[in-house]
Amino acid sequence: MLKAAFNPAGGVRYHLRARRHRDREWAPFRAALAAWLADWKPGTRTLAIVGPSGGHCLPGSLVARFERLICFEPDPTARPIFASRLRALARESAAPAPEIEWIAEDAWIGPVLEGRGVPADLIDARGAALLFTNFLGQVSFLVPDDRWMAFRAAWRASLWPLLERVPWASFHDRVSGEIVPRLGDDVRTERPLADDEVVALYGDDQDGELLDHRTDDLLPRGASYAYFHWPIVAGRHHLVEGVRGNVPESGAEPPTRASTR
Ligand SMILES: C[S@@+](CC[C@H](N)C(=O)[O-])C[C@H]1O[C@@H](n2cnc3c(N)ncnc32)[C@H](O)[C@@H]1O
Repeated sequence: MLKAAFNPAGGVRYHLRARRHRDREWAPFRAALAAWLADWKPGTRTLAIVGPSGGHCLPGSLVARFERLICFEPDPTARPIFASRLRALARESAAPAPEIEWIAEDAWIGPVLEGRGVPADLIDARGAALLFTNFLGQVSFLVPDDRWMAFRAAWRASLWPLLERVPWASFHDRVSGEIVPRLGDDVRTERPLADDEVVALYGDDQDGELLDHRTDDLLPRGASYAYFHWPIVAGRHHLVEGVRGNVPESGAEPPTRASTR
């Protein structure tokens, strides 16, 4: 339990950061992310969220669209924070808060390393859409370096067929560093930016290293891409890549939650 609460991809340190920066330095990033997610219409009543933490960057307007959430999150300290955000959201809107099923045991790293693959059955069986929330950029730090290539192959073999069946999206760190990506107006593309295009976002007057979060190893080609600047702490800047995968053919939303309950 203590290990999960202090895991290197999130945990207590992340909640403290979020409390300090969420409504100030993170506000433009959160607003841009909310606008981008508002256009993601997976057409399901259930959403599986990988790594929601306390929902610090998740827009209320997104989760309010679903009746059920399946939250894959090993950090036990995230639950009361997320639950309290949902209660506040329900008070503000007419719709009841979604039901939440928490999955605390790691279903995305260890099982893949052990050859059991990603938890496709849990998502398929519930007719859920899948959203990775700033999780994929942490994966390469959670897998031992000498096992990365084997992990990557097993991950693709089990995840990519699932992503052909269910609506999906992800936002994740593409690179990070002390230098600042200059995005100007929103950057929206139909294909992922190549590495040299990512570097070009930093201009040629900034000197510094960028850490590659190796996310381009993990996902198949999506339908559309967006790029965001996330100033996570003073002097540290992440370039977050948003990917929307396949969309349902009808593009339809289910009936509104107020009319189905
Ligand atoms: C960088 S935080 C992102 C939190 C949140 N989605 C946000 O955008 O503010 C990454 C999250 O992934 C979670 N995590 C770590 N290992 C995980 C695993 N095996 N399965 C699901 N989530 C995991 C961490 O506990 C953490 O909450």
